[in-house]
Amino acid sequence: MLLSGKPIERENEMKKTLYVFLVWAMFGAAQAADHEKGNTLALSEGISTLLKQEMNEIKKGMESLVFSIASGDWEKIAKTGHNIKHSYIMKNKLTESQRHELHEKLPKQFRKIDKKFHYYAGMLSHVAKERDVELVNYYFYKMNESCAACHSMFVKDRFEGFKKGNRHEEHSH
Ligand code: HEC
Repeated sequence: MLLSGKPIERENEMKKTLYVFLVWAMFGAAQAADHEKGNTLALSEGISTLLKQEMNEIKKGMESLVFSIASGDWEKIAKTGHNIKHSYIMKNKLTESQRHELHEKLPKQFRKIDKKFHYYAGMLSHVAKERDVELVNYYFYKMNESCAACHSMFVKDRFEGFKKGNRHEEHSH
């Protein structure tokens, strides 16, 4: 009788160990999956707040472009493109250490898409001044494509539609 408690205790110990191990393994797996999905930006709160502000400004700009283009308001298109190109907020408000953080944390692919996006915004502004509606539409489309490209790679947690993968990619496999 005196000894009978021990195996049970040991069994409980083992169960506990196994449980801890399982949780640890699951957590590790989730992190690995996140890494594969590319959700690895892990920006500090300060930068994230600025970035979100900027994103919402860009969104407003894009929304206003729909009607500026539809109505041939070249001046407004040119101005909006210019503003987006020169980043409303981020560039002006970052502290030195935040700049450094961005430099460390942003993956190459992110920078590449970001650079292209700003280039398209500049081009949009340029072709608006030429009153070339076809090219205006083209660069608007290229900008919108860049939003989706970046979000589908780096912002899947927020834009869950991109978690399911891209139908277009599925077909080409
Ligand atoms: C190079 C990458 C990149 C491009 C290009 C980009 N975004 Fe984003 N966007 C992000 C990231 C990263 C976040 C998440 C920010 C966070 O939560 O810290 C985000 C978040 C957002 C949000 C949510 C902001 C919030 O308040 O949570 C909106 C809206 C948005 N983007 C709109 C756009 C639009 C519209 C475009 C294109 C015209 C665009 N973005 C282009 C990277 C990008």
